[in-house]
Amino acid sequence: MERRGAAAAAGGDVCMCQTVCPAHANHRGELSAGELLKWMDATACLAAEKHAGVSCVTASMDDIQFEEAARVGQIISIKAKVNRAFKTSMEVGITVTVQDILTNVEKMVSVAYATYVAKPVGDEKIELEPVKVLSKEDHLEHTLAIERRKIRLGYEQVFQNLMQESNREDTFEEGDAVSADLTHVQSIELVLPPHANHHGNTFGGQIMAWMETVASISASRLCRSYPILKSVNMFKFWGPSVVGDRLVFNAIVNNTFQNSVEVGVRVEAYNCEDWIKGRARHINSAFLIFIAVNDKGEQLTFPRIKPTTKDAVRRYHAAIARSRIRLARKCMMSAKEVKPDPWERSNQAYISYSNIAALTHLAAKSGWDITSTLDGIKIWTHEEGDVLSLKVEMKVKVPSQRAFLLLSDFTLRQQWDKHFVTCEVLQAVTEDEKIYYVTSAPITGHKPKDFVILVSQRQPSKPGEPYIIAVKSVTLMSVPPSSEYCRSEIFCAGFQIFSDSSSSCTVCYFNQVTSGVMPYIAANLTGSSHSIEDTALECMKFLELKGNEY
Ligand code: COA
Ligand code: ADP
Repeated sequence: MERRGAAAAAGGDVCMCQTVCPAHANHRGELSAGELLKWMDATACLAAEKHAGVSCVTASMDDIQFEEAARVGQIISIKAKVNRAFKTSMEVGITVTVQDILTNVEKMVSVAYATYVAKPVGDEKIELEPVKVLSKEDHLEHTLAIERRKIRLGYEQVFQNLMQESNREDTFEEGDAVSADLTHVQSIELVLPPHANHHGNTFGGQIMAWMETVASISASRLCRSYPILKSVNMFKFWGPSVVGDRLVFNAIVNNTFQNSVEVGVRVEAYNCEDWIKGRARHINSAFLIFIAVNDKGEQLTFPRIKPTTKDAVRRYHAAIARSRIRLARKCMMSAKEVKPDPWERSNQAYISYSNIAALTHLAAKSGWDITSTLDGIKIWTHEEGDVLSLKVEMKVKVPSQRAFLLLSDFTLRQQWDKHFVTCEVLQAVTEDEKIYYVTSAPITGHKPKDFVILVSQRQPSKPGEPYIIAVKSVTLMSVPPSSEYCRSEIFCAGFQIFSDSSSSCTVCYFNQVTSGVMPYIAANLTGSSHSIEDTALECMKFLELKGNEY
């Protein structure tokens, strides 16, 4: 496969600025979501092509949330850059902000991630050059892009699992529920040259804009108001369409929630010949979430929906599954939740993501202060508001991969960490994700503590990147807190292991300090104890003994 790409610096953003004009706005004078989706896709596609050096097509868009509306007269800025190139595809990060020219106040509208595939005309597939990583921020996005790719490619499986769990025996109360059929909308568009790129392929953003129009008509039939698009579910472009194609859009409400409604849209393409024969190509399906507000800006409640066919019942349940996934993603991506997350099918991918993301963010923070150096062990601290974090750096004479294998198996941890009294695997979810139950010794006068933790481990995907072992607490229904132990939590902890040579590595241990660990840290910081150094020394001894055994 030929290798192509400008090896553009990750900092090489592509920016688009637009003044919101009446032609871009809806009846409320707000920028129409369809127009914004077009601009987002165009900017992101240009960023992808800047890296690839050949034409690119939109493969998929991750869930998009719209946080803020933009009004006529305000300025929209869209920044897109390639976070990471995989083989033939690349992830593009898109940020949209709105600025008010009178007050100069700038607000975030959306942060989105899309995947583009390099498609040179008439050529074989090409392998993309890696992105040159420059700044710390670029490095973070580059690391997390691979985690997001896992979620993206695993989405269908998560969704299917949830569908199997859903209760198909539901009986639908007649009551004031509205028949879904009333919301059915069908529409057609002819793809003309202005809708396509220079190769004649329809722009993904144009298709999304048309979908949004049809979906919003469908939602308006239910709420009898003007719906506002709040989010779009992750979706994939199954196949291309070109100038001259007829695109048929079918939309219907799949389900309603308290203050929102999910509308599904399916797009089929026909060329002139297939049109007569009724041979359709399914090119895209998307699920859009709308809300509606009254004159006072209060959110309206949607009537319940009554599915009347077998397909409608399936879609009714599918909408619930998608809403669970969307909610999980929202919690994890915003990382605001400090309580341990319940380990459920809908959110496992996102909990693993947030586990790796939290550790990677913590490690990349600037402002780590070195507080002690003893026996080659360096202890660093980091303060941010009232959050204190700890980093312990150890140079170990063992290959990095051996250190990774030994440290990622938490059942071995008792051998070097005296705080671990027992440790058992509760669930080996995958090779890279395990849930452990750990008990630890009590501090004098207190009950012993126990933990349910998720350990996510990752190998570097290219030289120079560290091995990662991330740890955070989760809750499992099957392991509730007991009266014997004080259930304790780990917000963010783990290891990064960097290879120094074929026989040595640097192990960095991180811990966002919780009240339970505070006494140890405080004693260490004030010099009255060396328990951190002692544990680190034990860890080094263990690694060097076991790691060189073979
Ligand atoms: N999300 C993200 N990436 C995806 C994906 C999805 N849902 N599905 C496939 N990909 C990635 C694969 O991981 C692979 O990446 P890699 O080479 O970096 O590992 C790459 O796309 C190609 O996958 P492959 O399975 O070889 O190709 P495919 O036959 O599935 O084709 C498309 C993928 C996107 C090229 C094809 O579906 C297509 O042409 N879609 C229409 C594109 C379009 O017209 N968009 C709108 C107008 S621009
Ligand atoms: P699924 O039926 O599994 O949701 P599809 O790709 O067939 O997947 O359809 C996506 C969405 O488009 C559906 O959930 C539904 O909301 C809408 N849709 C599909 N077909 C029709 C149709 N014939 N009429 C109205 N809406 C449709």
